[in-house]
Amino acid sequence: MDKDVPSPLRPHCLCVAVPHHTTEPNAMAARAEEEGAASAAASGRVAVCVTGAGGYVASWLVKLLLARGYAVHGTARDLSDEKTAHLKRLPNASEGGLRLFRADLLDYDAMAAAIAGCKGVFHVATPVPSGNLTDPEREMLGPAVTGTKNVLEAASSAKVRRVVVVSSMVTVEINPKDWPKDKIKDESCWSDKEFCRNNEDWYSVAKITSEEVALEYGRQIGLDVVTVNPALVLGPLLQPMCSTSCQFLIYFLKGGPDRMRDKLWHIVDVRDVADALLLLYENPAASGRHICAPHSISARDLLRLLKQMYPGYPCINEESSDDIDNPAPMTSDKLRKLGWSCRPLEETIAGTVEFCEQAGFLGDLQGAPCRFPPVYNKI
Ligand SMILES: NC(=O)c1ccc[n+]([C@@H]2O[C@H](COP(=O)([O-])OP(=O)(O)OC[C@H]3O[C@@H](n4cnc5c(N)ncnc54)[C@H](OP(=O)(O)O)[C@@H]3O)[C@@H](O)[C@H]2O)c1
Repeated sequence: MDKDVPSPLRPHCLCVAVPHHTTEPNAMAARAEEEGAASAAASGRVAVCVTGAGGYVASWLVKLLLARGYAVHGTARDLSDEKTAHLKRLPNASEGGLRLFRADLLDYDAMAAAIAGCKGVFHVATPVPSGNLTDPEREMLGPAVTGTKNVLEAASSAKVRRVVVVSSMVTVEINPKDWPKDKIKDESCWSDKEFCRNNEDWYSVAKITSEEVALEYGRQIGLDVVTVNPALVLGPLLQPMCSTSCQFLIYFLKGGPDRMRDKLWHIVDVRDVADALLLLYENPAASGRHICAPHSISARDLLRLLKQMYPGYPCINEESSDDIDNPAPMTSDKLRKLGWSCRPLEETIAGTVEFCEQAGFLGDLQGAPCRFPPVYNKI
């Protein structure tokens, strides 16, 4: 696609930089394609790319892909052991199973080199902020939106079979226009982007815009793009750092000074999200969006469940959540009809807490106060 030709995609770009292609990195991508195809062919495996491979969701996906016999090209901004050792230790990672590529989402050429030689792409990488943003354009919107465009353009150049883009429930459930409050939300429901923008909810603005861009780009150029919209993701971690979504649960158990709303939360297990991503890649019947939000529970009911399961923790108190009028939940029926199933919520919570205890994330109950990640008071 010629970057100089105006495209209907441009209005979604939020004034972010257009990727710059040069001859040399294209040669780099071609070389990587030859090497990638050769190494995947030598091992008899189909190569697929996972962006942001070291992250919470992506690490479980890489584990699943390797177990199912795929060769994985994983991208990471930082290839240090701290960020990637857990990937290198995965079963089947050695002997050509896993190749890691240093790539920032804003670096088209680096992304193209990672995607070259792949039959499929799982675009998982997006900043998931655990604190307040000081420069939303640089920290959130640019990487999410331009990053998605870069990945799709590179996937198109590499002629991949399908791109699976990880979107979010935040693109479905936030104040949708013309959607009755008591009507179950399905894939035809879109969050109100202007409402999110006015609320300075930059994570949701970025996710809505990048999902729109992904689906529109796919339609325009005939690239097979499907999206998945996971709920709040919980479950054990493979990487040593705590994810923003697990900090959500930790706050419920440790308690702290922040207030929250008695919101109806949708929750999904990270291992079930990985299953959904692979299913959407492999199942030819998948198309468009797919809500992946099987469990719904209000903040207070979640607190009651946690107190019952883990009476030893101080926990937040019920008065620290404000009443709100919750609309009807979302349905994951479209995904279930493709053959997806999931764990019970209690198993997910037990897996998260057990992991966080072992990793020391739930220790230091008397130390510095735990904080509720501000993003969860916006969405
Ligand atoms: N966790 C949830 O509750 C949840 C719910 C719905 C949807 N999602 C979506 O699921 C995806 C993964 O989220 P997660 O929970 O696994 O978060 P995560 O662990 O923070 O993973 C995010 C990944 O994106 C990478 N990334 C961020 N900015 C980047 C950039 N500029 N260039 C390249 N890579 C970049 C991060 O790399 P670094 O390690 O270098 O920062 C990390 O690998 C995201 O698209 C998120 O929006 C998550």
